[in-house]
Amino acid sequence: MIDVLFLPKHISHGKVCVVVDVLRATSTIVTALAKGAKYVMPVASVAQAKRTKGKDILICGERNGIKPKGFHLGNSPQEYFDVKGKEIVLTTTNGTKAISMIHSQNLYASCFLNLHATVDLLKDHEHVTVVCSGQEGKVAYEDVLCAGAIVYELDRKDLTDGAKIAKQLWKQAKNMELSALLSESQHAQELIEHNFLSDIEFCAQLDLYNIVPFFSQNRFVIA
Ligand code: MLT
Repeated sequence: MIDVLFLPKHISHGKVCVVVDVLRATSTIVTALAKGAKYVMPVASVAQAKRTKGKDILICGERNGIKPKGFHLGNSPQEYFDVKGKEIVLTTTNGTKAISMIHSQNLYASCFLNLHATVDLLKDHEHVTVVCSGQEGKVAYEDVLCAGAIVYELDRKDLTDGAKIAKQLWKQAKNMELSALLSESQHAQELIEHNFLSDIEFCAQLDLYNIVPFFSQNRFVIA
């Protein structure tokens, strides 16, 4: 069965889960690992991130879209092109919170940047739950759209209602220009206000990377 949760909730089963936060946490995680980071460790708070110390550690993330004081990097995936060998500690408003709610032994991170790599990996799994991170407790259009793309590409008949709705959304949108579609979302509008328009264009690239982050021992590594 393929399921899509429009908002994160506590999950404690061992089935396969995929977390999606297109703007921008999972796009950042995918980019950092694709560019050679050793791992990305999501943490809950700015204080917790700052407490983590180490030679190759970069403290990264955002609050209200902006890099907190004292952090090495923000949450723009485009800041993660030069992270080879680095250990990334990441805290974000919604994405890392969603991750902390999923206690599945098989958790992957996805976005448009690694759409088909994700789909290839999920093909052999009977039960998959795609978890949209949302934004501050509300459904995020771009996450449901990406979840729908995953469901569409998986091409399965055993879909929950959530999966059917997401798939339908993607079917209607899939021939349109993705960056224009993403720009319409509420979160994109906020990012544009903070001068992150180019992040929306970046996150709208389909299959830029052929890797899928896998969560193991509190951190994402390449699956
Ligand atoms: C989040 O996790 O809330 C987002 O990634 C926020 C952002 O766009 O930086």
